[in-house]
Amino acid sequence: MTVWGAAAVDEAAGAGVVHVGTRDVVTPLARERARELGVEIVVGSPAGPPAATSATTAARPTVVVPAPAPTAAPTAAPLSPAPAALSAALGSAPRPVRPPSGALYRRGAPIGRSPARSHTPGHAASAPGAAPTGPGRAAAGGRVGRVVVVGAGNVGMIAAMRLADADTFDEVVLVDIDEGRAAGIALDLTHTAALSGFTTRVRGVGTVEEAGRADYVVLTAGKPRTPGMSRSDLIATNAAIVGDVASRVARTSPDAVIVVVTNPLDEMTQHAWTSSGFPSQRVVGMAGVLDTARFQALASLAGAGPADGVAALALGSHGEEMVIPLSQATAGGRPILERVGPADLDAAVDRARGSGAEVVGLLRSGSAFMAPGMSAARMVLAMVADRGEVMPAAVLADGSYDIRDVYVGLPARLGRRGVEGIVEIDLRPAELAALRDAAARIGERLGALA
Ligand code: LAC
Repeated sequence: MTVWGAAAVDEAAGAGVVHVGTRDVVTPLARERARELGVEIVVGSPAGPPAATSATTAARPTVVVPAPAPTAAPTAAPLSPAPAALSAALGSAPRPVRPPSGALYRRGAPIGRSPARSHTPGHAASAPGAAPTGPGRAAAGGRVGRVVVVGAGNVGMIAAMRLADADTFDEVVLVDIDEGRAAGIALDLTHTAALSGFTTRVRGVGTVEEAGRADYVVLTAGKPRTPGMSRSDLIATNAAIVGDVASRVARTSPDAVIVVVTNPLDEMTQHAWTSSGFPSQRVVGMAGVLDTARFQALASLAGAGPADGVAALALGSHGEEMVIPLSQATAGGRPILERVGPADLDAAVDRARGSGAEVVGLLRSGSAFMAPGMSAARMVLAMVADRGEVMPAAVLADGSYDIRDVYVGLPARLGRRGVEGIVEIDLRPAELAALRDAAARIGERLGALA
């Protein structure tokens, strides 16, 4: 059995045809490349079978391999029932569900899906000069080939590790101006393939252009905080980096979805959106998943039970205006306030809000990377799985919650092509006011940046 990759298609471009054996595997990326180059993939040898002695075998017809049709996503039963209070918002896929075997995520496994989902408010605003929102490579082929992680710092490294480990992509590419670091991490990660059981190829390069056309881009490039700095202190420095990377991504990968991780998160996500010219659905910020995970962990430490039994949504900004509506939070499927007292819960919210700075203070050099990197990868994998999972994310507000035209953390339904809609959950008046205040403050900081 031979595995035919994109490189083999490139080599055959002159001939216009690739002959593959009946037991061979053609990677999704190879099929994509074949479509791009107009190369036909044909099962069977050009001159017939090697030992063609009979008329029957010599005349064996060849069969053109069709493009893979989108098929239903692998589904797995949730490991435990969905917590009640958020179940409406979280829809049909409220919790991360890893398949029982990594094989279900294996490269080339069918991952398409398109059942109708519950209604969510429209989310159609576009940046000036927005690219058309037609189906991208992933949608056209029913498969996803390449994720590019820009910034091979610690966050990018952890994100790349999780993405490779999931064995969902043909290729994970790390990009860093320190090309040696990107290449070194890529090689180190490649060496773990047998340990983790993945076949995803990992490369490290110096530019977005060398990485090639991506389906997803995780944008982590930028300066991290040092002790005593707020995320907002980074705004001017990182805006220059994020703006440059986003516009280059737009040229190299016009159909990609960008997941922004660089701080200050909400402002940088909006900046990446305007710099890319992408429709807002394809530019999303990471931090709600991270802040929620921190709250889940801290609530667990406060007695709420296992962290993954805590359901909550961290909304608002990734910073001082973080809003974690306790009216909606549950633990073990019951209102969380039945398990943990209000003072302890408020302390957990405060600590989640300050968790990034707490880690920065402990590390003394650099900032948190495990939870941030894993959160970014988690979002990409949710999009690829295309189950319409609802996650807190920085998205362009569309009038839901009476907020408009600014990137802020809201519950968002994620699908293969990015944000499918903003989900409205019931909030207490004080929670709603805090959310609107967060949006207003982000808007002010963006005004100062402009
Ligand atoms: C943190 C950074 C990623 O919260 O903002 O740790």
